[in-house]
Amino acid sequence: MDPSLQDRQKATVGRYAAKFVEDGMSVGLGTGSTVEWTVLALAERGLSLTCVATSVSTQRLAIENGLDVVTPGEVGRLDVAIDGADEVDPDFNLTKGGGGALAREKIVASMTDRFVVVVDGTKRRPHLGVFPLPVEVLEFGADIVAVRLRDLGASDVTRRLVSSDNGNPILDAAFGRIDDPPGLAVALQAIPGIVEHGIFPGDMVERVVAAQGDDVVELVRG
Ligand code: 5RP
Repeated sequence: MDPSLQDRQKATVGRYAAKFVEDGMSVGLGTGSTVEWTVLALAERGLSLTCVATSVSTQRLAIENGLDVVTPGEVGRLDVAIDGADEVDPDFNLTKGGGGALAREKIVASMTDRFVVVVDGTKRRPHLGVFPLPVEVLEFGADIVAVRLRDLGASDVTRRLVSSDNGNPILDAAFGRIDDPPGLAVALQAIPGIVEHGIFPGDMVERVVAAQGDDVVELVRG
């Protein structure tokens, strides 16, 4: 895709998703170049919001633009959370964590019944797995988790040079086509040493706001 179209799409869907937020709400703020536009659009509207940020970079952007940011425990539940994704399949399953924020992103997504995902036109795929699956691990277990990921079918596992905001290593596991994302999620959760993995099963998602050319399509689950 033409990079300028992709950038335009990120801005369009990111800004569009701000419409799901009303004054007084508690809002989960995702991480990445798409949801940055949501943060800016929310700030422009001058709403009084209580936000939980999924990364240090999102927290900084939100505070710089006048939004209030609290910890998950201070707010408990969220009225809505908005985040990007690296891949979305037709059953709303997601791959996330390209920006390394998957653990905080999953905590925040789990705090709401209204998880809204914003994606440019390159992210909708017939199957997950083209994008290597990010897996956050404990340093102590990083090498043995890599072996377990290969046992589960990953053809390659690479360690990122940069740690997560939580100080943990992130592995990228090349599974190729993933036929059963919820099943793989369960198998990954059973591996000791994995802090979090980047499969977000479709039942976490309320809707996907996706770019198509210069238009926006809303895909609502259920
Ligand atoms: C960060 C993420 C992002 O949401 C994902 O990588 C998409 O990013 P972008 O909006 O920049 O394409 O999961 O951990």
